[in-house]
Amino acid sequence: METLKKAAETYGTPLYVYFEKAIRERARIVKEVFRGVNLLPTFAVKANNNPNLLTILREEGLGMDVVTKGELLAAKLAGVDPLLIVWNGNGKSKEEMVHFLEEGVRTINVDSFEEMEIWEGLNPESVSFFVRVNPEVDARTHPHISTGLRKHKFGIPLDLLDRFMRRFKNMNIKGLHVHIGSQITKVEPLLEACEKVVEASRRYGFEEINIGGGWGINYHGEELNVEEYKEKVVPLLVGFKRVFVEIGRYIIAPAGFLVLKVVLVKKRKEKVFVIVDGGMNTLIRPALYSAYHRIFVCGKSGAGIRADVVGPLCESGDVIAYDRDLPVVEPGDFLVVENAGAYGYTMANNYNSTPKPAEVLVKKSGELVLIRRRENTMDIFKDVVM
Ligand code: LLP
Repeated sequence: METLKKAAETYGTPLYVYFEKAIRERARIVKEVFRGVNLLPTFAVKANNNPNLLTILREEGLGMDVVTKGELLAAKLAGVDPLLIVWNGNGKSKEEMVHFLEEGVRTINVDSFEEMEIWEGLNPESVSFFVRVNPEVDARTHPHISTGLRKHKFGIPLDLLDRFMRRFKNMNIKGLHVHIGSQITKVEPLLEACEKVVEASRRYGFEEINIGGGWGINYHGEELNVEEYKEKVVPLLVGFKRVFVEIGRYIIAPAGFLVLKVVLVKKRKEKVFVIVDGGMNTLIRPALYSAYHRIFVCGKSGAGIRADVVGPLCESGDVIAYDRDLPVVEPGDFLVVENAGAYGYTMANNYNSTPKPAEVLVKKSGELVLIRRRENTMDIFKDVVM
């Protein structure tokens, strides 16, 4: 708590603060769960793209799962070997394909017949393709981050796989890929998807597999039981020569905190509004998914007020938290949002012409390092032509 306060006093707010120790610990848990499996763990860069943090994960032996040229650049800035990079996405353009090949990426998850036709035309050398299948499994998570049902835009339904394999028999298809969604807190849907895909892999004699990510964390109550996952899912994977996973949130979310400063406390008869200096521009998850993030106030405890914590932007959806019991707060207090390390900064935006926050790393030694400067207001207009 002292460290977060010191970081906020030194670098200002809104501020994302990450702890190296926690990042390494979480990465190690993932590797431990798959002990006995020929694993290539990759980190989903969409969850956090700061190259300083990706460097820590590279040191832990992780590759990267990237979707765009921007995410590829982040991985490259972190010194990640392109052979440890997996390229995902349902809308890869031909121009991007050429770029990724030039950059040395050789592992590609193909999302559709239409995409594979373009690859066929490019006829790339020494590329391993993985076919993303849509297993028709309900991930039982928020609809926006659920991807494993036929109605979703991702992958190829399992019943079309035969046709796909016949149509593209000349392409170097190494295995199947599945990812049914994010923030999944039950083992069953992950198990069901894995069983289906392992079964299909055996039918085609594949020796490699990519089982995606999606491990749910404890925002508020339940999280994925990794012991149960280890018992039930991992044994299915033991025979494969190489198993890719793509985990983002589980590794980085708990290692990151968002520090906000109280600007005003607005008291109404029915409710108190604690107005902080960052809202849906800084952390959009509560507004977009009704996500719950635990909150605490630096240096204060106990419950004195029940309040909505809201941002300063011009819409009612600009909320960080509803109906929280907080200590009595006053302007200048620092409020800390937990589990902000994943899909926090990467989804931050400039709504209401506000600059994006800064990011700080707390090293194992306790030293604070600025790893991304705060944007300034001019940055927002750097591409304007007038
Ligand atoms: N692999 C693929 C193909 C993915 O689409 C994703 C996430 C991952 C791996 C990593 O999933 P994770 O382990 O982080 O759950 N913005 C949303 C989450 C979107 C997830 C998109 N895909 C949020 O803030 O909850």
